[in-house]
Amino acid sequence: MSVEMSIEKPLVITVDGPGGVGKGTISLLLSNKLGLNYLDSGALYRVLGLSAKKKGISFSDENSLGAEASKLDISFGTEDPDLGVRVILDGEDVTADIRTEDAGSAASKVAAVPAVREALLQRQRDFEINPGVVADGRDMGTTVFPDAPLKIFLIASAEERAKRRYLQLTNKGLREKEDSVSIRTLQSKIQREIEERDRRDSERSASPLRAADNAVTIDTTEMVIDEVISTVLNLVKDRSLGKM
Ligand code: DC
Repeated sequence: MSVEMSIEKPLVITVDGPGGVGKGTISLLLSNKLGLNYLDSGALYRVLGLSAKKKGISFSDENSLGAEASKLDISFGTEDPDLGVRVILDGEDVTADIRTEDAGSAASKVAAVPAVREALLQRQRDFEINPGVVADGRDMGTTVFPDAPLKIFLIASAEERAKRRYLQLTNKGLREKEDSVSIRTLQSKIQREIEERDRRDSERSASPLRAADNAVTIDTTEMVIDEVISTVLNLVKDRSLGKM
């Protein structure tokens, strides 16, 4: 399936939802299948959290965080089979560094700062170039691309998301140090982290995590990746957005 090149507006598909639901995997696969660009908006917040930590900027120093966000020297490289799209900060490959749960938690904290969101808004909108983009995040459908013709909101139980996140982290070797701890304990720890992050992302005043009014919500708790992909591709087809 591919999207027809046209002089019309680029096609934007937004994929929002809570942590660990599989947005990244689904969005990357969709973008490949449809020949669209991919925006991993969470990576921007993760990189900012990392950069702030490196520079000793406090997460409560809103002015400095906003300034740091507007001058962030970040670029996206080629796709890594395990880690996804490579992320470069100040010329350094930080792809693995930003994928830890700590980096996720730091990202969620800096993401609650309105000046940060404001500074990163245009950078995200710049991804709307032909033939289009699959944009993954928390507020893609509500704030960044409110006019997108297809908005997906993925959900899954917290337990299932903790399981997926656990598998994702262990696949990437990021949890090696904790191998001796039982899987059950580790998953519960991840579940607590995920739930805390959900709470922070949903309760903040600036662009909270929520489904856009016209989003299609898909509960993926009992679904495998292929089922989610075909559900979304059917929506693309039904709305005559892509060409088989
Ligand atoms: O999708 P992710 O786990 O990489 O996102 C990390 C954090 O960044 C997430 O907890 C909240 C924040 N985020 C956000 O506030 N808005 C987005 N569009 C994407 C991520």
